[in-house]
Amino acid sequence: MTTEIVTVRALDAVADGNIRRAAGIIRRGGTVVFPTETVYGLGADATSAEAAEKIYKAKGRPSDNPLIIHIAAPEDAAKYAFTDETYEKLARVFMPGPLTVILPSRPVIPPQTRGGLPTVAVRCPSDPIANRLIKYSGVPIAAPSANLSGAPSPTHAAHVVDDMNGRVDMIIDGGDSAFGLESTIVKVEDDGSLILLRPGKITLEDLRCVVGRVSVSDAVTGALKPGEKVLSPGMKYRHYAPKAPVFLLDGTPEEKIRYISGQGTENVAVLAYREEATAFHTALPEVTVYDFGLRTDTAVQAHTLFYLLREADKCNFRAIYAPLPDKGGIGLALYNRMIRAAAYQIVRLHG
Ligand code: TXA
Ligand code: MG
Repeated sequence: MTTEIVTVRALDAVADGNIRRAAGIIRRGGTVVFPTETVYGLGADATSAEAAEKIYKAKGRPSDNPLIIHIAAPEDAAKYAFTDETYEKLARVFMPGPLTVILPSRPVIPPQTRGGLPTVAVRCPSDPIANRLIKYSGVPIAAPSANLSGAPSPTHAAHVVDDMNGRVDMIIDGGDSAFGLESTIVKVEDDGSLILLRPGKITLEDLRCVVGRVSVSDAVTGALKPGEKVLSPGMKYRHYAPKAPVFLLDGTPEEKIRYISGQGTENVAVLAYREEATAFHTALPEVTVYDFGLRTDTAVQAHTLFYLLREADKCNFRAIYAPLPDKGGIGLALYNRMIRAAAYQIVRLHG
């Protein structure tokens, strides 16, 4: 299949024409990769079972893993799901934006889109290209992240092309994703409380300011035990992982340097906080050091994590070392993605 690639940098008349053509592809049951404020999405008509199947095929994704449906305005959720007061509250504060809410589904969304679940995940992205595409399509757009199943989500158009060229009808290149990690996912319980299933830019602290009771699913910070039931099917798959093994090192720069030296420094990369980069460069000149931003700058780290993992992948490293993030604020989203990329291999270097 031939993939048409269009570049949109400003929402001028040419861009608008291209987005209208992309919407036509969606309406006719095709697939379009489009930018959002979190990561790129691989979209198709959420009301069509055949279109959903095309998404699973393009991603190489198991079809029991449900898709998020993207809507143009928060109030559209009521057409596809049973919304409640908690949804209204969340929508008022966080939408459009990087929040996905899981609600009981209406029958108009076919089971194929929902991975057979009775619920549906709803998100109203703030990215203006995404918003126009959904509006012009006239249907909700089902879209997982636009990576091949298991790989880090793409936040950079060239990475989208690496994974999806030849697998979809169109790719809209909208530049680098603003945030860089996928949306926060919450499930609304019958009593109006929330369960945080996937942390993101909307933090646990943000959610607790709006909805008093928010619990955190064990899967956010820990590995699933064999046979454990998952609330979000996506959590059970190996995720965000580059080909090289990733190790999260918890310790001082000196402890990390000693550990890496002991493991062998040939063909090795380090994601280093900017404060630690000079120490790595000096002590381990043969190691490739990637700048992971200042220790406290979680926005930069979120923005670059998937980009760096994918760039590192092209060099066929034997091992990639990265820091263990703190769990506060956006740190929880970084921790959640990084322990998965590392297949839960955390090396504690001090007592
Ligand atoms: O930022 C994002 O959310 C991006 C952009 C494209 O919007 N999308 C994204 O989709 O990350 P995806 O498919 O890669 O991740 C969605 C996650 C999966 O882990 C899936 O299992 C979970 O949401 N999910 C979807 N529907 C669900 C449901 N009804 N119940 C529980 N989990 C659900
Ligand atoms: Mg994904």
